Amino acid sequence: MRRAKISIIGAGNVGATTAHWCAAAELGDIVLLDIPQTEGMPQGKALDLMQASPIVGFDSNVVGTTSYDDTAGSDVVVITAGIPRKPGMSRDDLLSTNARIVGNVTEQVRETSPEAILLVVSNPLDAMVQRTWQVSGFPPQRVIGQAGVLDTARFRAFLAMELGVSVEDVAAMLLGGHGDTMVPLPSCSCVGGIPVTQLIAPERLEAIVQRTRDGGAEIVALLKSGSAYYAPAAATAQMVEAIVRDKKRLIPAAAYCDAEYGVGGYYVGVPIILGSGGVERIVEIQLSDTERAAFRKSVEAVNTLVEAMARLTEGSS
Ligand code: NAI
Ligand code: 2OP
Repeated sequence: MRRAKISIIGAGNVGATTAHWCAAAELGDIVLLDIPQTEGMPQGKALDLMQASPIVGFDSNVVGTTSYDDTAGSDVVVITAGIPRKPGMSRDDLLSTNARIVGNVTEQVRETSPEAILLVVSNPLDAMVQRTWQVSGFPPQRVIGQAGVLDTARFRAFLAMELGVSVEDVAAMLLGGHGDTMVPLPSCSCVGGIPVTQLIAPERLEAIVQRTRDGGAEIVALLKSGSAYYAPAAATAQMVEAIVRDKKRLIPAAAYCDAEYGVGGYYVGVPIILGSGGVERIVEIQLSDTERAAFRKSVEAVNTLVEAMARLTEGSS
């Protein structure tokens, strides 16, 4: 049986670490691509990973390159290309630079891997996945954004730390954009099947929800020179696994919603079933009035971002 071919565009912190997690889990053969100016860097990281294979015990082939020819016919393409946010950098700085980069990457990918499922990671995530979908012309089921697995992982880690329990017993759900307006859902989160609302006092739970919203910024402030990558990469690898192993995982991810949740044509974080067909279903859950209002606010923030991007990219494909 042919192994899955997974290409990762952008061999920086998130891209290379995603390659690491994917190789360690033997999810397929991996191509790690970066821009020609970095010639040697993706090749060096790929060779380093290959040299780890006898120790870790994986048979995935890992190749580094600056040529899209090597990515041809990929089953999954992960897009991490772009610049990460640094302290003092405005949201608009990231938006214009990364919209251009992600647009260029997508043009190449649509030629070389026309049947691939595209997993977008670059920020600002909700706008970048919308741009990838628009430039690719792929059906929306095959263009998905990674954010919810990371954000719920942060929520789950903080809940486990609070309660002193195994993270394995903590499940959580979250909606909305990947930003300050994301909507962690304590009503859909539990520990060993027990709702977290029965285990943690409301004010502590609200503090954990807020720490989750600020999870990315907390790490940027600590690192000072870039943003998180271990957890983002692990989250991305989990999505790759759901696709290549057709796991039908029910996870939060940025998916194209039109009638669903009354979103009206934007990518936003919602629960999806992820399998070999990409987004196989968007799962609609009942929300309280407060949760619905918070979700609407988040969709409005995504809408503002996408409109700003449309103005910045006017005239390009
Ligand atoms: P990084 O700076 O370490 O790596 C980015 C890589 O992209 C660099 O190696 C750069 O040379 C490459 N690149 C730039 N333009 C390119 C192009 N046209 N084609 C191919 N590669 C290109 O940044 P890092 O930390 O890996 O973050 C990558 C992106 O992921 C950022 O936009 C960051 O904000 C985002 N991110 C998103 C998360 C999410 O949950 N959605 C979580 C963490 C980061
Ligand atoms: C994060 O949440 C920066 O999106 C990135 O860590």
